[in-house]
Amino acid sequence: MPAVSRTFQIPTGSRSVQIVLHEPSLTEDNLGWKTWASSYLLAKRLHLLRLPEAPAGSQRRVLELGSGTGLVGIAAAAVWGAAVRLTDLAEIEANLAMNVRDNVQVIESSGGVATTGVLDWSDTKNSPSDEIQYPIILAADPLYSPEHPASLVQTIGRYLHRSAEARVIVELPLREAYAPEIDDFHHRMRALGLEVREQGEETGYDDWRAGEEGGLKEVRCWWGVWAWKDLKAWSSAQAGSQHISSHPWNYFSYDALGK
Ligand SMILES: C[S@@+](CC[C@H](N)C(=O)[O-])C[C@H]1O[C@@H](n2cnc3c(N)ncnc32)[C@H](O)[C@@H]1O
Repeated sequence: MPAVSRTFQIPTGSRSVQIVLHEPSLTEDNLGWKTWASSYLLAKRLHLLRLPEAPAGSQRRVLELGSGTGLVGIAAAAVWGAAVRLTDLAEIEANLAMNVRDNVQVIESSGGVATTGVLDWSDTKNSPSDEIQYPIILAADPLYSPEHPASLVQTIGRYLHRSAEARVIVELPLREAYAPEIDDFHHRMRALGLEVREQGEETGYDDWRAGEEGGLKEVRCWWGVWAWKDLKAWSSAQAGSQHISSHPWNYFSYDALGK
């Protein structure tokens, strides 16, 4: 698979933006060098999602896990005008950073900001402080090995803000070979204390493979929006309380929920 530059049209609601991504030549180990079907579907869905508003005067903060070429994270910065941190393994991050730089105009013209960094889900040493937890986490096509569900979910557990407004937005290709990983992921997300609030299925194409297999490769995908289950009650209690701030992004201890 040779290196290519590809252009994606992403709807924002009122218009559409054009994102151009460099995809290096694919090797078996570097799957993050291609833009996969589920990330294009998720990027096009962002403007349709009903998400809690960021507090007045502040920018929505978003973390993307396993960004690959960066389509979803760059789209989130452009569509939502958000501050997005796009992350992946060290060997993927250089191309990711280049793609973010190449699309800086489209990001900034929407009032967004995008930065990149290395974040390996198997790294449990680097504990984030509550200040850098995120109210929105995005991930497209992150499950293709038996260790991925556990490492991805523990990363979500460490980086997702503890607030009723926090959301994890995931799009997964429903590949039969990875059905056990998908089941394991759902099981672990529920065990962490999250529940699906919105979901659906749709079809996309791994269109960079078109020449390889003699046509577009259709990919059925599941998308879902997860939120903390037990925080619904906490949020209502907050709304009626005079003593505790009801600021939607307030951090509170997970231990307080008896987790
Ligand atoms: C199939 S690709 C999907 C890339 C992109 N989200 C997309 O849909 O086009 C999976 C991505 O997960 C990343 N990944 C795999 N294991 C990871 C880990 N332990 N920590 C961080 N990222 C990882 C890969 O490097 C790759 O970019």
